[in-house]
Amino acid sequence: MTRSAIFVSCSALPEGDGDEAAVLPALADLGFTVSWAPWDSGADFESADVVVLRAAWDYPERRDEFLSWCESVPALSNPASVVRWNTDKTYLGELLDAGVPTVPVEIVQPGEKPRWPKKPFVVKPSVGAGSRDVARFDVAGPEAEKHVAALHGDGRTALVQPYQSSVDTQGEIAVTYFGGVYSHAFTKSAMLGSGMDASGLYLEEKLAAAVPAPQVRAVAEDALDAACGLLGILRAELLYARVDLVRGDDGRPLVLEIELTEPSLGFRQADAGAPLRFASAVRQQLA
Ligand SMILES: Nc1ncnc2c1ncn2[C@@H]1O[C@H](COP(=O)(O)OP(=O)(O)O)[C@@H](O)[C@H]1O
Ligand SMILES: [Mg+2]
Repeated sequence: MTRSAIFVSCSALPEGDGDEAAVLPALADLGFTVSWAPWDSGADFESADVVVLRAAWDYPERRDEFLSWCESVPALSNPASVVRWNTDKTYLGELLDAGVPTVPVEIVQPGEKPRWPKKPFVVKPSVGAGSRDVARFDVAGPEAEKHVAALHGDGRTALVQPYQSSVDTQGEIAVTYFGGVYSHAFTKSAMLGSGMDASGLYLEEKLAAAVPAPQVRAVAEDALDAACGLLGILRAELLYARVDLVRGDDGRPLVLEIELTEPSLGFRQADAGAPLRFASAVRQQLA
């Protein structure tokens, strides 16, 4: 039986960045015909058996429109309710409240002023992707105030976080799950200070395959369980999930973000089984 899958992209990168090259044949082996389409292209998303968010990297500027589109697609993976929760990083506060070791965050709504940290810190939008509009500051002052004011001026909520200096030495680690089951992991070097890719949608990342340390795996698992608890879903309902972690000053792993919307899944860095596991997870969603 043939089934149709659509991989969702954005008009600037209609077939993503090439990371899924080995995933398409793996799905074809299982009887899927796969095509790519930007989310705002008007393609027939309603009749596809499964619609997989992969490279919709332009949603941060149009989140409301994007979320309405998500809600109009019956077979969306991950589903619209998950996307709504996950596309606003204020969920980090919920993870902290749930006891998950997470990078501390101060949520600064338009009109509010942050309590500036005494150490280097990061200011970023609560709705953002690809490291866009993320800035590091060594000290509080006019530069940081200007960045917060610019985000607020666009109606965006700002997040202030202590800068985790381990990213400069160890980078961050991305731990990926398909259908709620661990698949593989990869490291990303420090992003702030690197250049934009040609599409202007993300900072160029340097990725490498990695085996997560036991502590890292344990925190990533706890983070995923907590996220599913907050969402009221089972882990198996998530076609894909990526937990990004850094080491805190004391060396303990902290969650930097949970990516349930359109994360790069690092197939190019992963073992040859990763695309097969992904294809199997897609089948599971339809079972
Ligand atoms: N608190 C932080 N400490 C150190 N680096 C950070 C911090 N927050 C963000 N960064 C850097 O900025 C990048 C982008 O931030 P992130 O929160 O992952 O947002 P997104 O990937 O959704 O744009 C990270 O990959 C990391 O390199
Ligand atoms: Mg990130």
